[in-house]
Amino acid sequence: MPKDKTKVKKCLFPAAGYGTRFLPATKAIPKEMLPVLTKPLLQYGVEEAISADIDTIAIVTGRGKRAIEDHFDISYELEHQIKGTSKEHYLTEIKDVIEKCTFSYTRQMEMKGLGHAILTGETLIGDEPFAVILADDLCDNNGESVICQMTKLFEEYKCSIVAVEEIPPQDSNKYGVIAGEAEENGVIRVSDMVEKPDPKDAPSNLAIIGRYILTPDIFDILRETKPGKGGEIQITDALLAQAKKGRVIAYKFKGKRFDCGSVDGFVEATNYFYNKSKD
Ligand code: G1P
Repeated sequence: MPKDKTKVKKCLFPAAGYGTRFLPATKAIPKEMLPVLTKPLLQYGVEEAISADIDTIAIVTGRGKRAIEDHFDISYELEHQIKGTSKEHYLTEIKDVIEKCTFSYTRQMEMKGLGHAILTGETLIGDEPFAVILADDLCDNNGESVICQMTKLFEEYKCSIVAVEEIPPQDSNKYGVIAGEAEENGVIRVSDMVEKPDPKDAPSNLAIIGRYILTPDIFDILRETKPGKGGEIQITDALLAQAKKGRVIAYKFKGKRFDCGSVDGFVEATNYFYNKSKD
Protein backbone atom coordinates (compact mmCIF):
# COMPACT_ATOMS: atom_id res chain seq x y z
CA MET A 1 0.00 0.00 0.00
CA PRO A 2 1.45 3.45 -0.83
CA LYS A 3 2.27 5.56 2.23
CA ASP A 4 -0.04 8.42 3.13
CA LYS A 5 2.43 11.28 3.02
CA THR A 6 0.12 13.73 4.73
CA LYS A 7 0.14 11.79 8.01
CA VAL A 8 2.97 11.96 10.50
CA LYS A 9 3.50 8.49 11.97
CA LYS A 10 7.10 8.71 13.16
CA CYS A 11 8.87 10.84 15.71
CA LEU A 12 12.60 11.35 15.98
CA PHE A 13 14.23 12.10 19.32
CA PRO A 14 17.78 13.42 19.11
CA ALA A 15 19.27 12.23 22.41
CA ALA A 16 22.99 12.08 21.90
CA GLY A 17 24.08 15.30 23.64
CA TYR A 18 26.29 15.33 26.72
CA GLY A 19 24.09 17.39 29.02
CA THR A 20 27.08 19.28 30.35
CA ARG A 21 24.89 21.84 32.12
CA PHE A 22 23.68 19.09 34.43
CA LEU A 23 27.04 17.60 35.40
CA PRO A 24 27.76 15.74 37.56
CA ALA A 25 24.19 14.30 37.37
CA THR A 26 24.66 13.51 33.69
CA LYS A 27 28.07 11.88 34.02
CA ALA A 28 26.63 8.36 33.90
CA ILE A 29 22.93 9.10 33.28
CA PRO A 30 21.69 10.46 29.95
CA LYS A 31 20.23 13.96 30.40
CA GLU A 32 17.04 12.74 28.69
CA MET A 33 16.59 10.34 31.63
CA LEU A 34 16.57 13.06 34.28
CA PRO A 35 13.17 12.88 35.98
CA VAL A 36 10.64 15.62 36.47
CA LEU A 37 8.89 14.14 39.50
CA THR A 38 9.11 10.40 38.79
CA LYS A 39 9.13 10.41 35.00
CA PRO A 40 12.16 10.88 32.74
CA LEU A 41 12.05 13.81 30.31
CA LEU A 42 12.18 11.45 27.36
CA GLN A 43 9.07 9.59 28.49
CA TYR A 44 7.14 12.88 28.59
CA GLY A 45 8.25 13.42 24.99
CA VAL A 46 7.24 9.93 23.87
CA GLU A 47 3.84 10.32 25.54
CA GLU A 48 3.40 13.60 23.67
CA ALA A 49 4.14 11.79 20.39
CA ILE A 50 1.62 9.06 21.26
CA SER A 51 -1.01 11.74 21.91
CA ALA A 52 -0.60 12.74 18.24
CA ASP A 53 -1.22 9.15 17.09
CA ILE A 54 2.44 8.56 16.40
CA ASP A 55 3.48 4.98 17.05
CA THR A 56 7.00 4.74 15.64
CA ILE A 57 9.68 6.20 17.87
CA ALA A 58 13.17 6.70 16.48
CA ILE A 59 15.89 7.70 18.93
CA VAL A 60 19.33 8.97 18.02
CA THR A 61 21.55 8.05 20.93
CA GLY A 62 25.26 8.11 21.62
CA ARG A 63 27.81 6.56 23.90
CA GLY A 64 26.67 6.12 27.49
CA LYS A 65 22.97 6.24 26.64
CA ARG A 66 22.01 2.61 27.14
CA ALA A 67 19.67 3.47 30.01
CA ILE A 68 17.31 4.88 27.37
CA GLU A 69 16.93 1.51 25.64
CA ASP A 70 16.46 -0.26 28.97
CA HIS A 71 13.77 2.21 29.98
CA PHE A 72 11.63 1.47 26.93
CA ASP A 73 11.90 -2.28 27.39
CA ILE A 74 10.37 -4.93 29.63
CA SER A 75 12.11 -5.43 32.97
CA TYR A 76 11.14 -9.03 33.79
CA GLU A 77 12.82 -9.20 37.16
CA LEU A 78 11.32 -5.95 38.43
CA GLU A 79 7.86 -6.77 37.10
CA HIS A 80 8.01 -10.23 38.67
CA GLN A 81 9.05 -8.72 42.01
CA ILE A 82 6.20 -6.24 42.26
CA LYS A 83 3.46 -8.24 40.54
CA GLY A 84 0.39 -8.50 42.76
CA THR A 85 1.78 -5.96 45.28
CA SER A 86 0.56 -2.44 45.99
CA LYS A 87 3.50 -1.12 43.94
CA GLU A 88 2.45 -2.64 40.64
CA HIS A 89 0.69 0.52 39.46
CA TYR A 90 3.96 2.46 39.42
CA LEU A 91 4.80 0.72 36.15
CA THR A 92 1.41 1.20 34.47
CA GLU A 93 2.33 4.33 32.48
CA ILE A 94 5.62 3.07 31.08
CA LYS A 95 4.13 -0.33 30.22
CA ASP A 96 1.39 1.46 28.32
CA VAL A 97 3.97 3.49 26.37
CA ILE A 98 5.94 0.34 25.49
CA GLU A 99 2.80 -1.43 24.29
CA LYS A 100 1.69 1.41 22.04
CA CYS A 101 4.97 2.07 20.21
CA THR A 102 7.87 0.48 18.43
CA PHE A 103 11.28 1.85 19.32
CA SER A 104 14.35 1.89 17.13
CA TYR A 105 17.75 3.36 17.80
CA THR A 106 20.81 4.54 15.97
CA ARG A 107 23.96 6.10 17.31
CA GLN A 108 25.45 9.45 16.46
CA MET A 109 29.13 8.76 16.82
CA GLU A 110 30.39 12.33 16.73
CA MET A 111 28.59 15.34 18.16
CA LYS A 112 28.31 17.52 15.07
CA GLY A 113 25.12 19.39 15.92
CA LEU A 114 21.35 18.98 15.88
CA GLY A 115 21.19 18.95 12.07
CA HIS A 116 23.72 16.14 11.98
CA ALA A 117 21.80 14.21 14.66
CA ILE A 118 18.61 14.49 12.60
CA LEU A 119 20.47 13.34 9.47
CA THR A 120 21.80 10.36 11.45
CA GLY A 121 18.16 9.41 12.06
CA GLU A 122 17.39 9.17 8.32
CA THR A 123 17.93 5.43 8.37
CA LEU A 124 15.10 5.09 10.92
CA ILE A 125 12.72 7.53 9.23
CA GLY A 126 13.02 6.97 5.49
CA ASP A 127 11.02 8.90 2.93
CA GLU A 128 8.12 10.30 4.90
CA PRO A 129 7.28 13.38 6.97
CA PHE A 130 8.24 13.09 10.62
CA ALA A 131 8.09 14.90 13.92
CA VAL A 132 11.12 15.89 15.97
CA ILE A 133 10.88 16.37 19.73
CA LEU A 134 13.76 17.73 21.79
CA ALA A 135 12.99 16.14 25.14
CA ASP A 136 14.62 18.90 27.17
CA ASP A 137 11.93 21.29 25.96
CA LEU A 138 9.11 19.96 28.11
CA CYS A 139 5.66 21.07 26.97
CA ASP A 140 2.32 20.82 28.70
CA ASN A 141 -1.20 22.07 28.26
CA ASN A 142 -4.71 21.13 29.12
CA GLY A 143 -5.88 20.53 25.58
CA GLU A 144 -4.10 19.01 22.59
CA SER A 145 -0.38 18.48 22.96
CA VAL A 146 1.95 20.74 20.98
CA ILE A 147 3.03 18.00 18.58
CA CYS A 148 -0.62 17.03 18.04
CA GLN A 149 -1.47 20.63 17.16
CA MET A 150 1.40 20.56 14.68
CA THR A 151 0.58 17.23 12.98
CA LYS A 152 -2.95 18.55 12.36
CA LEU A 153 -1.51 21.70 10.84
CA PHE A 154 0.73 19.56 8.65
CA GLU A 155 -2.29 17.85 7.11
CA GLU A 156 -3.39 21.30 5.95
CA TYR A 157 -0.07 22.90 4.94
CA LYS A 158 2.02 19.83 3.96
CA CYS A 159 5.33 21.60 4.57
CA SER A 160 7.87 21.76 7.40
CA ILE A 161 6.67 23.38 10.62
CA VAL A 162 8.60 24.86 13.55
CA ALA A 163 6.96 25.67 16.89
CA VAL A 164 7.76 29.21 18.05
CA GLU A 165 7.20 31.39 21.07
CA GLU A 166 7.95 34.99 21.96
CA ILE A 167 11.12 35.48 23.94
CA PRO A 168 12.73 38.46 25.63
CA PRO A 169 15.02 40.06 22.99
CA GLN A 170 18.17 39.47 25.08
CA ASP A 171 17.61 35.68 24.88
CA SER A 172 17.85 35.45 21.08
CA ASN A 173 21.34 33.95 21.27
CA LYS A 174 19.91 30.77 22.82
CA TYR A 175 17.53 29.90 19.97
CA GLY A 176 16.85 29.70 16.28
CA VAL A 177 14.92 32.89 15.47
CA ILE A 178 12.50 33.31 12.56
CA ALA A 179 10.98 36.09 10.48
CA GLY A 180 8.02 35.92 8.11
CA GLU A 181 4.53 36.96 7.12
CA ALA A 182 1.39 36.07 9.08
CA GLU A 183 -0.82 33.55 7.22
CA GLU A 184 -3.64 33.06 9.70
CA ASN A 185 -4.01 33.15 13.44
CA GLY A 186 -0.79 31.79 14.96
CA VAL A 187 0.70 30.69 11.60
CA ILE A 188 3.57 32.53 9.93
CA ARG A 189 5.08 31.75 6.54
CA VAL A 190 8.82 31.81 7.29
CA SER A 191 11.09 33.90 5.07
CA ASP A 192 14.21 34.02 7.22
CA MET A 193 15.71 32.10 10.10
CA VAL A 194 18.96 32.54 12.00
CA GLU A 195 20.58 30.23 14.53
CA LYS A 196 21.28 31.91 17.87
CA PRO A 197 21.71 35.51 16.63
CA ASP A 198 23.01 38.32 18.81
CA PRO A 199 20.04 40.39 19.98
CA LYS A 200 21.04 43.20 17.60
CA ASP A 201 20.88 40.81 14.60
CA ALA A 202 17.71 38.89 15.56
CA PRO A 203 15.06 39.12 12.80
CA SER A 204 12.22 39.02 15.40
CA ASN A 205 11.45 37.91 18.95
CA LEU A 206 10.00 34.58 17.79
CA ALA A 207 12.20 31.69 18.86
CA ILE A 208 12.04 28.08 17.72
CA ILE A 209 11.41 25.59 20.50
CA GLY A 210 12.13 21.88 20.32
CA ARG A 211 9.15 20.75 18.24
CA TYR A 212 9.39 20.33 14.48
CA ILE A 213 7.54 18.59 11.67
CA LEU A 214 9.95 18.00 8.80
CA THR A 215 9.40 16.87 5.24
CA PRO A 216 11.87 14.19 4.18
CA ASP A 217 13.66 16.33 1.58
CA ILE A 218 15.35 17.86 4.65
CA PHE A 219 17.78 14.91 4.62
CA ASP A 220 19.22 15.80 1.18
CA ILE A 221 19.47 19.43 2.28
CA LEU A 222 21.24 18.44 5.51
CA ARG A 223 23.77 16.41 3.55
CA GLU A 224 24.73 19.62 1.76
CA THR A 225 24.55 21.91 4.80
CA LYS A 226 27.91 23.30 5.90
CA PRO A 227 28.75 23.70 9.57
CA GLY A 228 27.24 26.96 10.87
CA LYS A 229 26.96 28.47 14.36
CA GLY A 230 29.44 26.86 16.76
CA GLY A 231 30.97 24.83 13.89
CA GLU A 232 27.94 22.49 14.01
CA ILE A 233 25.49 21.39 11.33
CA GLN A 234 22.36 23.31 12.22
CA ILE A 235 18.79 22.25 11.45
CA THR A 236 17.94 25.97 11.34
CA ASP A 237 20.29 26.44 8.34
CA ALA A 238 18.81 23.45 6.50
CA LEU A 239 15.28 24.71 7.16
CA LEU A 240 16.24 28.11 5.72
CA ALA A 241 16.76 26.39 2.35
CA GLN A 242 13.15 25.12 2.51
CA ALA A 243 11.92 28.49 3.81
CA LYS A 244 13.39 30.26 0.78
CA LYS A 245 11.01 28.17 -1.33
CA GLY A 246 8.08 29.08 0.92
CA ARG A 247 8.09 25.57 2.40
CA VAL A 248 8.31 26.33 6.14
CA ILE A 249 5.70 27.68 8.50
CA ALA A 250 6.15 28.74 12.10
CA TYR A 251 3.40 28.00 14.55
CA LYS A 252 2.70 29.86 17.79
CA PHE A 253 1.73 26.80 19.78
CA LYS A 254 -0.84 26.73 22.55
CA GLY A 255 0.56 25.60 25.87
CA LYS A 256 3.45 26.00 28.23
CA ARG A 257 7.07 25.13 27.57
CA PHE A 258 9.87 24.61 30.07
CA ASP A 259 13.52 24.77 29.11
CA CYS A 260 14.64 21.70 31.04
CA GLY A 261 18.09 22.05 29.47
CA SER A 262 18.69 24.75 32.09
CA VAL A 263 18.61 24.30 35.86
CA ASP A 264 16.12 27.18 36.26
CA GLY A 265 13.72 25.72 33.70
CA PHE A 266 14.08 22.26 35.18
CA VAL A 267 13.19 23.50 38.67
CA GLU A 268 10.28 25.51 37.26
CA ALA A 269 8.96 22.39 35.45
CA THR A 270 9.35 20.31 38.61
CA ASN A 271 7.35 22.82 40.67
CA TYR A 272 4.70 23.11 37.96
CA PHE A 273 4.17 19.36 37.62
CA TYR A 274 4.30 18.90 41.38
CA ASN A 275 1.55 21.48 41.90
CA LYS A 276 -0.44 19.96 39.05
CA SER A 277 -0.18 16.50 40.61
CA LYS A 278 -1.61 17.88 43.86
CA ASP A 279 -4.62 19.55 42.20
C1 G1P B 1 18.36 23.80 19.35
C2 G1P B 1 18.24 24.50 18.00
C3 G1P B 1 17.65 25.89 18.17
C4 G1P B 1 16.34 25.81 18.91
C5 G1P B 1 16.52 25.06 20.25
C6 G1P B 1 15.18 24.82 20.92
O1 G1P B 1 19.35 24.47 20.11
O2 G1P B 1 19.52 24.54 17.38
O3 G1P B 1 17.46 26.49 16.90
O4 G1P B 1 15.85 27.12 19.13
O5 G1P B 1 17.13 23.78 20.05
O6 G1P B 1 15.37 24.26 22.19
P1 G1P B 1 20.00 23.83 21.45
O7 G1P B 1 19.07 24.16 22.56
O8 G1P B 1 20.11 22.34 21.20
O9 G1P B 1 21.33 24.49 21.59
